[in-house]
Amino acid sequence: MLTGKKILLIISGGIAAYKCLELIRLIKKQGGAVQVILTKSGAQFVTPLSAASLSGEKVLSDLFDLTDETEIGHIELSRAADLVVVAPASADIMARMANGLASDLATTTLLATDKQVLVAPAMNVRMWEHAATQRNIATLQGDGILFVGPDEGDMACGEFGPGRMAEPAEIFNTIDTILSEPPKLLTRPQSRLEKRQSLTYPLTGPLAGKTVLITAGPTHEPIDPVRYIANRSSGKQGYALAQAAYDLGARVILVSGPVNLPLPEGIEVLPVETARDMHDACLEELPVDIAICAAAVADWRVESPADEKMKKRGKADVPDLELAQNPDILRTIANHKTSRPALVVGFAAETQNVVENARKKLTSKGCDLIIANHVGSGSDVMGGAQNTVHIVSQAGVEDWPEMAKQQVAERLMRLLATELQSTDLRAKQ
Ligand code: CTP
Repeated sequence: MLTGKKILLIISGGIAAYKCLELIRLIKKQGGAVQVILTKSGAQFVTPLSAASLSGEKVLSDLFDLTDETEIGHIELSRAADLVVVAPASADIMARMANGLASDLATTTLLATDKQVLVAPAMNVRMWEHAATQRNIATLQGDGILFVGPDEGDMACGEFGPGRMAEPAEIFNTIDTILSEPPKLLTRPQSRLEKRQSLTYPLTGPLAGKTVLITAGPTHEPIDPVRYIANRSSGKQGYALAQAAYDLGARVILVSGPVNLPLPEGIEVLPVETARDMHDACLEELPVDIAICAAAVADWRVESPADEKMKKRGKADVPDLELAQNPDILRTIANHKTSRPALVVGFAAETQNVVENARKKLTSKGCDLIIANHVGSGSDVMGGAQNTVHIVSQAGVEDWPEMAKQQVAERLMRLLATELQSTDLRAKQ
């Protein structure tokens, strides 16, 4: 909820300006107040009348709107807000902000404000990628300005790539995260690893303010102090997911079985060995927003591992290993009574009837999505860099072409971020 919060929304020029009308509606619906400043070029795309009707406030467009300094000056305007949002932020306004120009009401207010500023860039992909824009972004980030988006996709100019303004729902969620009291990102309880090393989380991106729990790698189930039961999982897909979630702004907790992979930066890694350790570590981290069980958890463990190394005694003396069932982490999380994450995702490594088995798993485990892949002989999935997956949900099956595990991870995390946003929005409506 944004009850009592005041947002100063600066709409600069760009085809995405029309989306800000939806943003104003979302803020108002959640109890917030919006004061709009429309730049000269912004007014080419939306009319002051439509912004005023939705916000219920007079729309300001140039410095001379404020000539009556006793009524509301630009300094006061910039201070009265709890948050200043620039959406869409054109390359031009970002360049002027980065250089401290005060050439109109919008930039004068931005220079005068002592409040947090959030920028939602929108521009052609070439303009976004230009060295000058990237330099300006770095400057603005260094000044403490936060960013949401841009998204990647088809653009109004017919090109494809990053530059599309983040969707209004995503901008709204970022505003909500920044203004939530106590701030969600800054005061969350420290977890075990953080106490030892201080980690920072990006404040921007569609998963900003969200926590993603990921299991990865194999588990090792001891037989005796030197032997164990394991499997061929390399952990690559789970680690790639962790990186992709972090890149979208999430706080990421990676509960990892023994793997030979570099520790990803900025990600909280909890190393575990057995399925039971993994189970306990995951439950301790709940609640989270998304849980992805990508680990190849051993289904069985040796009931009573030997304390000393088992010795060969004679040819006929083969040890009897009594096995016990391990806890099903995915099922436990998906059926958690008090802390079920909004999205629970599992993987299904199958050697036959891939999609059919994945459908059964979706129901039996109670999760929202199963990522199914073929791991039979001839497939290079376990340990390899490529993966061909099928996304199985109650809504149906999506077949994705073969791609690198990193690409699968990026596409999947974007899908989950969108899904989480609509879940959040549905909950608020
Ligand atoms: N999983 C889990 N805990 C377990 C076993 C599996 O969290 N003890 C998760 C995996 O991380 C994966 C999903 O469940 O996301 C599917 O695992 P899989 O081993 O393919 O399925 P099983 O339930 O073990 O069924 P089966 O081996 O009979 O195919």
